[in-house]
Amino acid sequence: MTRYLLAIDQGTTSSRAIVFDQMGTSVAADQQEFHQYFPKDGWVEHDAREIWDSSLAVCRSALGKAGIKASDLAGIGITNQRETTVIWDRATGEPIYHAIVWQDRRTASWCTKLKSDGHEDSVVERTGLLIDPYFSATKIAWILDNVDGARARAESGELAFGTVDSWLLWNLTDGKSHRTDATNASRTALFNIHTQDWDDELLALFRVPRALLPEVLDSAADYGTSESRWLGSPVIIAGIAGDQHAALVGQACFSPGMAKSTYGTGCFLMLNTGDQAVRSENRLLTTMAYRLNGKPCYAVEGSIFVAGAAMQWLRDGLKLIAHANESAAHAEAVGVENPVYLVPAFTGLGAPHWDPHARGAIMGLTRDTGIGEIVTAGLQSVCYQTKDLVRAIQNDGARLETLRVDGGMVVNDWLMQFLADILNVTVDRPKVTETTALGAAYLAGLQTGVFDSLEQISGLWACERRFRPGMRPALRESLYAGWLDAVERVCNN
Ligand code: G3P
Repeated sequence: MTRYLLAIDQGTTSSRAIVFDQMGTSVAADQQEFHQYFPKDGWVEHDAREIWDSSLAVCRSALGKAGIKASDLAGIGITNQRETTVIWDRATGEPIYHAIVWQDRRTASWCTKLKSDGHEDSVVERTGLLIDPYFSATKIAWILDNVDGARARAESGELAFGTVDSWLLWNLTDGKSHRTDATNASRTALFNIHTQDWDDELLALFRVPRALLPEVLDSAADYGTSESRWLGSPVIIAGIAGDQHAALVGQACFSPGMAKSTYGTGCFLMLNTGDQAVRSENRLLTTMAYRLNGKPCYAVEGSIFVAGAAMQWLRDGLKLIAHANESAAHAEAVGVENPVYLVPAFTGLGAPHWDPHARGAIMGLTRDTGIGEIVTAGLQSVCYQTKDLVRAIQNDGARLETLRVDGGMVVNDWLMQFLADILNVTVDRPKVTETTALGAAYLAGLQTGVFDSLEQISGLWACERRFRPGMRPALRESLYAGWLDAVERVCNN
């Protein structure tokens, strides 16, 4: 009898649900976009209710499309946009404010102050992260300080905090389970990745009451059971991981030295470092890869805030293209030697620059610049930013020979070839590029016995196409030098 797993992939711009079978093959999927709120410069919010409603709707319709019932599921895996912060009332389940999204920069000046007061070293040491508005801690404090009465209610235990995984879990279990996994916890800046526990000094520094926090479990664990009213019968939620960590699992990067890069709204490159939490000297993050059977596995991560979102902006904001898949034809026509550079620092710059005050720019415009050059520059910005990360990883002493890629953008062959060329690294595109959801399904499958081991999962990974670097070194260097010059102009650091 086939055993199915349901993966909920709650991302920054859409909620998705995918039903997988026991071979890791996608059987049916559904997806819903939801509103993005931009109330002020650098602010990004979601309606947490809409996150839950859209997630539930796609779960129901994916089950319908697969022609199966919830009782046919071995378990549910949840993966999610990380860091995004929800605070709700434990009694009513109502959020007390919109979810503050990972991209939101409203706490930038507080972060600058914390850094100038000399707190960064201790935060890096405990969490592997830097001080930046990206992470949940300052977002939590902002809500507590700006919603009437919230701080007192948090202290008395009336409120709950969660990243999006916890929020979905709470709703699926009708408030019976307030939990998260170690990967999501590791993105809050409140979790000590060495002791694997919430850290009292960090809670004091960021002024976050412990009473708000969820219990932290392994990435494959018994998180609770969904109430029958949601999917028709109860189903165990058996796996949780932040989306980039789930993608690492979906890409079967289980050995130290293996790396993946995911091209969604942003781009996140992760290199498995095994049981060693390696501290970067080049402003990369140290993070959890996953935690299984109580054993932490670590990774270094480079986080770029805008990748696919740049193409979305070219499509919806500037209306230069009607569909993202038109970008490849523009790039073919323009070619790699494009003098235009687009720095998509819409919400500041992430790794390795970490400048929350930087803003975007298009440079190198001339009278003959057309739509093609600007669209191509958007694509190239994704590769140049990845190059920034790979350089930082290499400067940290790691060798990177092959990069496994996934996410919506990797269907673009031109982009993948330019990526291999500019990185001078082989790029492997797997048969299944829905690796984020797949990773969540694998975690739930490990917990429920659908999969026996990581070795078995590794055996399911298959390469669809390999892109080998072929660009002349001099051209690679001159193109990248143009990028570095453009970035320098937008940075305030
Ligand atoms: O850290 C933010 C990240 O988890 C968001 O991922 O796929 O929504 O761009 P994505």
